[in-house]
Amino acid sequence: MINNAIPLRIAGVGYSVPKAVVTNEDLTKLYDTSDEWIYTRTGIKERRMVSGDESAFELGVDAAKNALAKSDIKADDIELIIVATSAPSQLYPAMGCRIQAELGIPNNIPAFDITAACTGLIYALSIARGFIASGMYKNILIVATDNNSKLLDWSDRSCSILFGDGAGAMVVTASEDGVDDIISIDIKSDGSIGNIIEFNLAGKNCPLVEPNTEKPQFITMNGKEVYRFVARVLPEYVEQLVANAGMKNEDIDYLIPHQANLRIIQAVQERLGYSEDKVITNIERFGNTSAASIPLALVESVEQGKVKLGSTAILTGFGAGMTWGGAIVRLREGIC
Ligand code: ACO
Repeated sequence: MINNAIPLRIAGVGYSVPKAVVTNEDLTKLYDTSDEWIYTRTGIKERRMVSGDESAFELGVDAAKNALAKSDIKADDIELIIVATSAPSQLYPAMGCRIQAELGIPNNIPAFDITAACTGLIYALSIARGFIASGMYKNILIVATDNNSKLLDWSDRSCSILFGDGAGAMVVTASEDGVDDIISIDIKSDGSIGNIIEFNLAGKNCPLVEPNTEKPQFITMNGKEVYRFVARVLPEYVEQLVANAGMKNEDIDYLIPHQANLRIIQAVQERLGYSEDKVITNIERFGNTSAASIPLALVESVEQGKVKLGSTAILTGFGAGMTWGGAIVRLREGIC
């Protein structure tokens, strides 16, 4: 951290999920699969999917409203909007700009989107931290939202079983009491293996140059390679995150990981020697909601009484890129 850095306070966190529930049993109408196959390999029972007017944008607006309502910051006082999305409802205008307009946030502030897939929330928090630490902006709205269901190949049974739709949001501000809610934060990437999970915007070439060959525009994933990479990197990474912060495992109350696959989460849990109640999962009911999954797991588990506020948690994610990252954060009373 830079000298004289301004500390950050997490002021509010919210989420939003679509209404429609799609169970594993429902998926058997699309292809040859079973609840048993999906549940034993992923820990997923059901997920939510957008329908009608719902979209990553609409869910993002809703999550942002919920985060603002929990915070002591008014929409009018937001000075920057960062949206983490890799399955947006449109490429441009940026979702940040649309959310600014929808929430009536003053029209001269900056707003932009970032793509770090399922690590998006951690990346956005890291960017926000830099802006707050430097004194450039005080109040920042982070939104993490993805409508994966619109980007999936619904005949690809090994990939489409994993994902669901959802949004999360966080309002962060300059801390007035000198306490930094970000104890440590770190983001990483390895583009050399980026092809193991991709979404290509194929588009169409100019017909004057080349006859058009339609290519599918779906998420493609080498599930085995993703699994191998994350199972190799993540447990050690999270262990190192704790050590680098000068902390011990007993200083951490909760591990709130990206909800991609229960078996990967369990591998991290085993490595750290954490008890089951310390590791927060809701993948069973929401699947993998990409960037939204960490705030969704945090707020939902507070609502369910599984996470008590006034505690310390590791947030960690990984996703396409490959990207990964983690933050050790203080969860103050009243933030969700
Ligand atoms: N139902 C039944 N059978 C299936 C299904 C299904 N839904 N999907 C695949 N199979 C079959 C395959 O056809 C194959 O059969 P075969 O051996 O006769 O050819 C067999 O099951 C094994 O298929 P794999 O694709 O190799 O299945 P795998 O054991 O790797 O499991 C899974 C697939 C669950 C996706 C696993 O690879 C995984 O969890 N990977 C991690 C993915 C992940 O975490 N992605 C998200 C991270 S990135 C992000 O969040 C953006």
